[in-house]
Amino acid sequence: MVSFKQRDIISIRHFNKEELLYILDLAKKMEQLDNTDMLKGMVLGSLFFEPSTRTRLSFESAMKRLGGMVIGFAEPGVTSTAKGESLSDSVRIIEGYCDIIILRHYLEGSAQLAADVVNIPVINAGDGANQHPTQTFLDLYTIQKTKGTLEGLTIGFLGDLKYGRTVHSLAYALAYFGAEMHFVSPNSLRMPEDCIDELKDRKVKCHENESLAGISKKLDVLYCTRIQKERFADPVEFEKVRGTYRLSKSVLEEIGIKNDLKILHPLPRVDEMDESLDTTDFAVYFNQARNGVPVRKAILASVLGKE
Ligand code: CP
Repeated sequence: MVSFKQRDIISIRHFNKEELLYILDLAKKMEQLDNTDMLKGMVLGSLFFEPSTRTRLSFESAMKRLGGMVIGFAEPGVTSTAKGESLSDSVRIIEGYCDIIILRHYLEGSAQLAADVVNIPVINAGDGANQHPTQTFLDLYTIQKTKGTLEGLTIGFLGDLKYGRTVHSLAYALAYFGAEMHFVSPNSLRMPEDCIDELKDRKVKCHENESLAGISKKLDVLYCTRIQKERFADPVEFEKVRGTYRLSKSVLEEIGIKNDLKILHPLPRVDEMDESLDTTDFAVYFNQARNGVPVRKAILASVLGKE
C-alpha cells in the first residue's frame, strides 16, 4: 500500500511508478476540494534561499487552502544566515516551529542535508542544478491531463539541460512510462552524462541533438527551459549560448510539428519562447503553473498523514 506519511521528498528517484500515480490521482481530487480544515493547526516552514515565484507561492497557497499556516522567508538576507549561521543549524531551529519544511537552496544536496538533521519531513523545492521533484509531479500531472496518458510518449527537452533540475527530475520519472526522449541543447549544456547513462540503463531510447529541426515532427510534448544565467561561473560562457533557441509560432510552422503537440515550460521564461505562442493550443505552460496548487495540496496532505 502506498504511503507518503512523514516521508521526505528529496529526489524523484525515491518514488516508484505506483507512488507517482498515487499523487497524480490525489491531485485530481484536490482540484475539487478547497478551503477545508484538513491541515488545521499545522504549520509549513517555507525556506527559500533562492528566488521563486511559482514554487513558493503555490506551496503556500496549497497549505492555506487546506486550512494550515505558513511561516518562513523568501530572502535569506533577513535571517541569521546573514550572520553566518549554517543551514543545518537553521533547520534544526526551525524544526521546532513547524510540522514540515520546504527548502529551496543553491547547493546541490542541501535538501538531503536538511532531512538528515531534522525529524520532520523535508520537501526539496529545488537544490542547485540537481533536482526539483515537486515540479516533476506537476509536470506529469499536466502531461497526463493534456495528452490523456503518460504512456509511450515522445518527449523533447530543449534548452539548458546541464543545469536544468526540472529536466533531470522529469526525465527520470518519464522513464517509468516508456517515453522516448530527445535532448536538444547547445553542446556546452548537454544532459549530464550520468543522467543519460541511468536512462539508458533503464532502457529509455535517448537521442541528443543541437537543433529542434529534424526531430520536431516526432514530438508529442516539448519541454522548454530557460538558459540559466545565474548558474554560469563565467559570464563569457553564458554569452556564447544566450538566445540559442527562440521558439515562436512562425518557427514552429517552419520546422513542422504535430497538430496536438503540447509545449510545457517550468517558467520563468526569458527569450526562448515568444508570446505569439501563448494563445495557441500548443501552449500549456500557464495551466502547468496553476496545476502547482492541487499537486502541492496532494503532497502536503499525504506527507502530513491526512490522505
Ligand atoms: N518552476 C519554478 O520552479 O518556478 P519558480 O522558480 O518561480 O519557483
